Amino acid sequence: MLNFALLGAGRIGKMHAEIINNHSETALKYVYDINKNFANQVAEKFNAKAVNSPEEAINSNEINAILIASATPTHTKFITMGVKAGKAIFCEKPIDLNIDKVNQCMQDIEGSNVPLQIGFNRRFDNSHTKAQQARVKKTIGELEMIIITSRDPEPPGLDYLNAAGGFFRDTTIHDFDLSRFILGEDPIVQVSAFGENLFDENAKKAKDFDTAMFVLKSKAGVLIHINNSRRAVYGYDQRVEVFGSKGMIISNNQTPTSTEFFSAENTSSKDTIHYFFIERYSQAYKDQFDSFVNTVKNNSKPLVSFEDGRNALIIANAAYESYETSKVININFD
Ligand SMILES: NC(=O)c1ccc[n+]([C@@H]2O[C@H](COP(=O)([O-])OP(=O)(O)OC[C@H]3O[C@@H](n4cnc5c(N)ncnc54)[C@H](O)[C@@H]3O)[C@@H](O)[C@H]2O)c1
Repeated sequence: MLNFALLGAGRIGKMHAEIINNHSETALKYVYDINKNFANQVAEKFNAKAVNSPEEAINSNEINAILIASATPTHTKFITMGVKAGKAIFCEKPIDLNIDKVNQCMQDIEGSNVPLQIGFNRRFDNSHTKAQQARVKKTIGELEMIIITSRDPEPPGLDYLNAAGGFFRDTTIHDFDLSRFILGEDPIVQVSAFGENLFDENAKKAKDFDTAMFVLKSKAGVLIHINNSRRAVYGYDQRVEVFGSKGMIISNNQTPTSTEFFSAENTSSKDTIHYFFIERYSQAYKDQFDSFVNTVKNNSKPLVSFEDGRNALIIANAAYESYETSKVININFD
């Protein structure tokens, strides 16, 4: 049995607590959140203990692994503490918003061999994985284009926007990582980015975007298009198209049931698509965690590494540079 400490019991932390609790080989032992009420609620629900400091959770001899789901600026500190305590670590994306902090953390944990996995859950979605496998197995022939549509159902509040660190680093970072996942060994070398405020007053106040588009290029010349919106009235729009010399594979939106309704007003009207990430990616979140558990058990390499987290942030930073300079930016992963 692997015993977990959960750091951060907010929106995604609560979901992870449930996954840890439901897994047959893991147990939730400690919960720490700066907001004691959140920690208490989650600890009570899953028969764990709410603790008053991260040290108490991380350094306990009872704990084998740490799941970091706290606010983004806390991640590097908790990763370093966990590595120093010799605990396996699963950390939500992004590692941080600041590349200097990420590089410092990389230096601080250099040489450690504890398993450390970053939470790019979309890599574990069965449909996105099937699209990626079509590239690997060449069932679509030689890869030529990747098109990713990723739109949230509704904009978050101003507090979230002020803390999240901007659309490209907080949200599009998933799509940058998914592009890297589909490409495999072929690195992204260029990005051009556009961001707009078309409808969300809060995004405007936070000097953030509500709408964005990107074109990226890989070393082998694969072209990638990503489009993001903070508002799609029909739900959480998640589609991936992988196009090659022998065809195309689409990972499409999913609906809760596969029914279609026919009436005098509608022809073939389906359920609305899943509302947001917790519903849409529920299978991926569970399989992501299961993969981490296997990594720890077998002392193998995590499927999503610290380096993957760092590289996605480097692309996001280059995208901001492109927006600010109105230029295509060459990407340097050093
Ligand atoms: N992979 C995904 O699909 C996904 C989805 C949502 C969020 N996330 C990531 O998960 C993290 C949390 O996001 P969220 O949406 O749950 O946010 P949230 O605001 O709901 O939760 C964050 C929690 O961290 C706690 N916290 C803040 N500072 C802390 C500290 N110093 N020590 C301990 N706890 C602290 C807050 O009290 C809060 O409960 C972010 O890094 C976010 O980018 C990932």
